[in-house]
Amino acid sequence: MSCSVLGIGLAGFGTVGSGVWKILEEHGRLIESRSQGSAAMEIRKIAVRDLSKKREGNTPAELFTTSLMEVVENPSVDIVVELIGGTEAAFDLVTKALKAGKPVVTGNKALLAERGTELFAISKETNTPIYFEAAVAGGIPIIKAVQQSLVGNQIESIAGIINGTSNYILQRMTEAGLSYPEALKEAKDLGYAEADETLDVNGWDAAHKAIILGSIAHGFLINYKNVYVRGIEKVTPLDIQFASDLGYVVKLLSLVIANKDGGIEIRTQPSFLSKTHILASVHDVFNAVAIKGDHLGESLFYGRGAGQGPTASSVVSDLVEATRGSETNMGFLPYKKTGDLVDIDDTATSYYVRFSVTDRPGVIADIASVLAKHEIGISGTHSPVDADNPDAEFVEMVFLLHTCPFGRLKLALAEVENLDCLTNRPVVFRIEAL
Ligand code: NAP
Ligand code: HSE
Repeated sequence: MSCSVLGIGLAGFGTVGSGVWKILEEHGRLIESRSQGSAAMEIRKIAVRDLSKKREGNTPAELFTTSLMEVVENPSVDIVVELIGGTEAAFDLVTKALKAGKPVVTGNKALLAERGTELFAISKETNTPIYFEAAVAGGIPIIKAVQQSLVGNQIESIAGIINGTSNYILQRMTEAGLSYPEALKEAKDLGYAEADETLDVNGWDAAHKAIILGSIAHGFLINYKNVYVRGIEKVTPLDIQFASDLGYVVKLLSLVIANKDGGIEIRTQPSFLSKTHILASVHDVFNAVAIKGDHLGESLFYGRGAGQGPTASSVVSDLVEATRGSETNMGFLPYKKTGDLVDIDDTATSYYVRFSVTDRPGVIADIASVLAKHEIGISGTHSPVDADNPDAEFVEMVFLLHTCPFGRLKLALAEVENLDCLTNRPVVFRIEAL
């Protein structure tokens, strides 16, 4: 863009939007001098829902409006920053900005993962870029790393812990023995979870981010409808304890793996990870993304994946990037129409399966014979006796299973469920070797 001062229209002045204001107030001059004067910026319009709310910082009242469209239409605005969240109003706003030839910066992963196909098409048609560093892993500069720094590599795998709230909840369940509701309450009280925590705990916030990472790594927009997603809502302290007994931790892992046949596996689910793996030591609300490139080898990106400062820092880096923009700097444009996503049933790992069974002779043999019929090998079992109740009528029986396709495991478990010894549905976790 070639403006002497970049006029910013800020849609949203919540956690992240007000953080952008703060950074520009505090470091505007520094940013300008770092870019030899080319990155002078000024916020010229701010849209919010409620004009009566008290706002952080010295924000002049005349900048505020409740009209999102005014942010785009204001002639002094050169670039639109979308930080309102959601996929409806945000989509209309971004579309309008692009069609007006005004580049967009957004931190909205749901918008890009679910409606990116439409938005990037408009971006291409109008030759107007969308920048989105803040959409994945907050303050970690992972988008620019994949798009720019690693451009000379085929990306073989991406393994991420990219939802801070889930990571915090699982850690508190593991280390403090809290139940899921107790740990969730703590995450909400500390302000980690979103006001509506649904997407945090049902896996979709992480999945949206994985879709974006997979799309930029492989050059086509991954259709979110074909992505396998499970959240942490049903993880129990019992499985966390058994994981620990067996040398694992439970983490909400997002994986994008390019397999040997050129297919892309993508999944987000709570998984068993060896305690010795580097991602096992990612604690609290921190994020980490491990990337393997064919020439790079492995690289780990670690840092704060959420919160005002880290996320606003990424938004500001995109604003500076926009001031450096040239005709060819389009943020990101897909360069392939489609790619081959591997069906989840065809993806193979080893597994932890917990069966709740009636304690009678022959139970293990009954289950093992169904697994054998489906050619699924058992690498170990685990069945601790309840010290408080050694003569319990029901027991928890854990089987560790050799690598097999998920579809085959599902068929076998459907058959096991018909056995009269089962008192509950089996609980399954993938064991990710990474
Ligand atoms: P937030 O605190 O809820 O703030 C949202 C802001 O948007 C508020 O100022 C709100 O106005 C305004 N707004 C919402 N709908 C509007 C509408 N229809 N018209 C005008 N203004 C509207 O959200 P946030 O945490 O800053 O997140 C913003 C975006 O960044 C989201 O897409 C989120 O997923 C993404 N993100 C957030 C984080 C994080 O750590 N928070 C990290 C990475 C990415 P009022 O103030 O009047 O309510
Ligand atoms: N709620 C998200 C998280 C915010 O916990 O990771 C950052 O996207």
